[in-house]
Amino acid sequence: MPPTDVVLPFGRPTLGLEEEQALLHAFRAGDLATGSIVRTFEQAFESTFSLGRAIAVSSGSMANLLAVFVLLETGRLATGDRVAVSGATFLTAAAPVSVAGLVPVFIDTGPDDVNMSLSALEAACERYQIAGALIPHALGQPLDLDRLERIKRRYGVVVIEDCCETLGATWRARPVGTVGDLATFSFYAGHHLTTAEGGMIVAANEELHECAASLRSFGRDVTYAGARFAFPVGARPVMPDERYVYLRLGFNAKLTDLQAAIGVEQLKRVETVLRARRATARAVCEVLVAHDAKLLGTPLAPGAEPFAIAFVPTRRDSVTLARALEREGIEVRSLLGASLPHQACYDGRAKIIVESYQNAIELSRRALLIGCPPVVDLATATAVLDFALASAEEPE
Ligand SMILES: Cc1ncc(COP(=O)(O)O)c(C=O)c1O
Repeated sequence: MPPTDVVLPFGRPTLGLEEEQALLHAFRAGDLATGSIVRTFEQAFESTFSLGRAIAVSSGSMANLLAVFVLLETGRLATGDRVAVSGATFLTAAAPVSVAGLVPVFIDTGPDDVNMSLSALEAACERYQIAGALIPHALGQPLDLDRLERIKRRYGVVVIEDCCETLGATWRARPVGTVGDLATFSFYAGHHLTTAEGGMIVAANEELHECAASLRSFGRDVTYAGARFAFPVGARPVMPDERYVYLRLGFNAKLTDLQAAIGVEQLKRVETVLRARRATARAVCEVLVAHDAKLLGTPLAPGAEPFAIAFVPTRRDSVTLARALEREGIEVRSLLGASLPHQACYDGRAKIIVESYQNAIELSRRALLIGCPPVVDLATATAVLDFALASAEEPE
């Protein structure tokens, strides 16, 4: 059978003439690697979201990796420390903890929720000497920021808010990304805003910002203002030149000007995109609820910026339903790799799974995700979704 055309993709960016022209303009001007357009993009991101100083990077995964290393480099974490993570999320929202020589502490999600249970996090802080947390706001649904802040203060944990799926979301009018010492964003193609691949780190203060900027660029001293070619530098037999003075062992996680040119245009349309996503999400939820599916979390709550709708079917098993939907052109995902600590990549690695870790396991078995892209023929998509759900529910 030929593959059915996709009528409801999981993610699809909104790209127009503006992005095309900006990209071409940068290309023709020779603005390829990281330069002034990246800085313009960072400034535009800062003024659009008012979250703090922004550092553009090559992906959300690298944003998380750098953020963890920033906390190590600045002495806020030390090798071997325990860091709380979610097991029901995308791999690189947790993996950087292990990559950096820290111990992940997997915290369960709440019942029928996609977000980490903050009650479980608090209980784990009491029991496990947790030094930090890398916490995603899952699928566009913000965590309770007031509670997260109380936990951060009470237990003295450093926090990275992973906002890769939750750009623009707010909790009681407070934007995600304002509690953490650092916050991270992803601009992968299917996300709220895209630069093809790309990401952003937001830092709560100048020290963290400087360290993130340095780690992004090999570990370079990004504030170097000394003389050039004045060999040696103090007692060090190195040639001072602002490009080649290194404070840290870093990475190359730079975004390019070509990507940033797209990002600058994307930021101008972000409100429209978010509104369109919410409209798709609302329509998808209506159809799912009409078929008695159990929605996970509160994807349409005030302040949420839906990334995907997570649900558990009640009239049919998840596998049969997923296959039926895909046959009709509705793209379906399972819960992004949950349960992460049970993936082969964690075999034999230091980790703690905080019991009872049952909700995340249940989600990994039964939860399905449907996207809410901003550009879609909504009437067709919802009619096909309705038809596909109905036909899957019929007795065989
Ligand atoms: C919660 C979360 N964190 C991090 C990432 C990684 O982002 P990227 O794909 O830009 O590397 C993703 C990817 O979708 C994600 O969903």
